[in-house]
Amino acid sequence: MQKAARGYEPISRSHCGMNAALDDLPMDGTCQIFYDGEPLQVSIHNTVLTALEEAGKKLVRGVGCLGGVCGACAILYRIRGGYELRAALMCQQMVVAGMEILPLPYFPQHKAVHDLHLPEGDSPTYRVNVLYPEINRCIMCGECTRLCPQGIDVLAYVGMIKRGDLKGAAAESFICVQCQVCALRCPAQISQPNAALAARRYYGCYVAPRAEHLVKAMELAKNEQTQRCLRRLRAMDLEDLRVLYQRREREPDDAPPGTWLPESRDLI
Ligand code: SF4
Ligand code: SF4
Ligand code: FES
Repeated sequence: MQKAARGYEPISRSHCGMNAALDDLPMDGTCQIFYDGEPLQVSIHNTVLTALEEAGKKLVRGVGCLGGVCGACAILYRIRGGYELRAALMCQQMVVAGMEILPLPYFPQHKAVHDLHLPEGDSPTYRVNVLYPEINRCIMCGECTRLCPQGIDVLAYVGMIKRGDLKGAAAESFICVQCQVCALRCPAQISQPNAALAARRYYGCYVAPRAEHLVKAMELAKNEQTQRCLRRLRAMDLEDLRVLYQRREREPDDAPPGTWLPESRDLI
């Protein structure tokens, strides 16, 4: 199945890879799914996560944000009778009749220390390769890309790290939610999300152009006027701070970016 180039693949009942006819299933009623081997009858218009809650499952691990961001709720599943193993985030994937679901267990991965103070003569691309040398063992099977619930071309960013293209790897892996599915299935035992995290960190620290407005803002934060404002705020009690916050001037929604300033400049 073709994956979305960016972002989460649109929720589809044919996401399981069985056949497109699954999209013709009724949207109302119930269906049977299997969670860790246990058959459950659940409403068909649920995500896997809400279906499990509806079935009385109390999930005390393997859930977090409920919004497709934290990556805690990864599952592997197969549609009974089908051959294809799929991966998804429980809070994003709709239930499909016959799903056999296994929550992803925690497993330790290679996580190197990302010391951002490089010794003289060291390069960020070399450093990422040294920290995660196993990326050079990739056999390009494509299993990581096939399974990634975020539709990321994991194989591509592993190749970029190998070639020293930290910018490309940072961009390709930017929406990774660290769900670990790719690492679980990698025959070369690569910890792709951690290598990608290192690529993003070293890229941000050494390769990406500096954000000049941020440098300016940090300089401004040190000047006497800003420090005076901070001292004044620190001296206020909680209730006064709350009132100050509630009565603050608000930027109009239609103000062009970077043009609005409040009438009162006492605290900026
Ligand atoms: S699963 Fe591992 S070996 Fe296969 S393409 Fe991905 S990184 Fe390479
Ligand atoms: S950890 Fe791997 S499978 Fe999960 S979102 Fe990141 S790249 Fe995709
Ligand atoms: S609970 Fe966070 S991604 Fe699903």
